[in-house]
Amino acid sequence: MHPAAWFAATLISFANVAGVFAVAGVSTFNDPAGFEPTNSQGNGIFAAAMSDLSPLWTGAQCEGTINASNCNGEGSCINCVGPACPDEEQCGNCFNVKCTGSLDGETTGACTGNTIKVKIIDACPATHPENYCKIPEFGGTVPPNQACEASGVNAFDIATTARSTLSTFQGNLNIDIESTSC
Ligand SMILES: *[C@@H]1O[C@H](CO)[C@@H](O)[C@H](O)[C@H]1NC(C)=O
Repeated sequence: MHPAAWFAATLISFANVAGVFAVAGVSTFNDPAGFEPTNSQGNGIFAAAMSDLSPLWTGAQCEGTINASNCNGEGSCINCVGPACPDEEQCGNCFNVKCTGSLDGETTGACTGNTIKVKIIDACPATHPENYCKIPEFGGTVPPNQACEASGVNAFDIATTARSTLSTFQGNLNIDIESTSC
């Protein structure tokens, strides 16, 4: 390897260890069905779902299509059957998450500066009627980036118990995300 290339590679690996390569994202808060109320994953780790449109998502996107007939035109689904997600390759992986601001433009409240660890335990599928029926295109009021419907956005849906650790805002958050061990 050329010495300059070696030096660059070494710098990159040190930077990775130090967790320098954070990416920006957004977080909504929900408690995924099928887990205990705290959604604890042990050792202070919170459960989270990742949008299958997130740049961090690896593997095939969830199966299914967006069909306006599944929505009531007012933000809810009529037929709420979600797609199969047979290739959730990020499940079981952990990320450090830190608040960087209010996603909804709240003027009261603040980020706490705390970092939490989340474990991906589910997908937040863009083709799930419970997600896409919420956005304005189908009669809802929720911005696409707050319903796992924005491609190019790292969208996490984190256990509600984590919200107050991250911030004193009441709504959704802009976050920094970095990969970490579980
Ligand atoms: C859309 O959903 C409706 C109601 O669930 C269903 O009857 C129809 O076949 C669906 N269309 C497509 C293209 O899947």
